[in-house]
Amino acid sequence: MTKPMKLIIDTDPGIDDAMAIFWAAGEPGIDLLGLTSIFGNVHVAQATRNALRLVEAAGLNCIVAEGASKPLNLPAFPPSHHVHGDEGFGDIPPEHPKGDPIKENAAEYLVRMARAHRGELILCPIGPLTNIAEAIQLDPEFASNVARIVIMGGSLEAGGNITSHAEANIYHDPHAADIVFASSAAITLVGLDVTHQILCPASDFDEIAMRAPRLGGMLKEMSVFYLAFYESVGKFGGCSLHDPAAVIACLYPDLFETRPVPLKVITQGDEVGATVQDDSGTRAPVDVCMGVDVEAVKALFFERLARLD
Ligand code: BDR
Ligand code: CA
Repeated sequence: MTKPMKLIIDTDPGIDDAMAIFWAAGEPGIDLLGLTSIFGNVHVAQATRNALRLVEAAGLNCIVAEGASKPLNLPAFPPSHHVHGDEGFGDIPPEHPKGDPIKENAAEYLVRMARAHRGELILCPIGPLTNIAEAIQLDPEFASNVARIVIMGGSLEAGGNITSHAEANIYHDPHAADIVFASSAAITLVGLDVTHQILCPASDFDEIAMRAPRLGGMLKEMSVFYLAFYESVGKFGGCSLHDPAAVIACLYPDLFETRPVPLKVITQGDEVGATVQDDSGTRAPVDVCMGVDVEAVKALFFERLARLD
């Protein structure tokens, strides 16, 4: 039997973050070492509480380390309450987790774990990339110590979701994202080019709740708010599985078609936050996901969630 993949998820939970983390909890091929929190969908203190709540709900044996509260160079952004609700999980009743984050901050924890598990650790950021850029700045060997960084973010040909040019995670810290793309790390980008193809309507969440009444039921309750947001912007086919797609791509890369493209991020002007091809000749190509086996990804999503309860 092959050893489970060592994974750390950097997250701003967030409704689709919760889906991704519960998916990882139900996937036997993943050894989830930790969650690192980041501002984005909510303030970082709320992101840390939400991460702890998900760990406790899923009975996960993993730590939570708190990360950055604002982008590297830009002032703080307001949280995305209109997309994820006031506390990040739609309208589900608030609950205070029992546990606490570790003392180390996210970047220090990431550096330490990448050294301890050199060549083995997959890092999956599903929020703004500030913690990852800080880890790269802290340790010149960080980028080569991690086996791969699988990022939910960006868009090559699909346009943006927070502006017409930019995807939200990249937009919320374009300078950090540019540092990550300039690094020597092996990177996969799971962006809107594929996540906009993977849609879940309300009936999918009914099915998930039926198969896993407790945790699937929690996701179904959260999804009501998320689906309402999608409908408010004219998208009636369901919500996108943004963050679950990235975590699934860590373990099942063959379900995605990639294109090697060196990338940079526009850091100012009207197109700020856009991920575009870098022609300087100095950057290594990123494996940008351009195609996806939607049915297979959704089947895996359902199947692993069904094991949760
Ligand atoms: C990304 O932005 C956040 O709102 C989601 O959680 C996801 O990580 C999608 O653009
Ligand atoms: Ca997210």
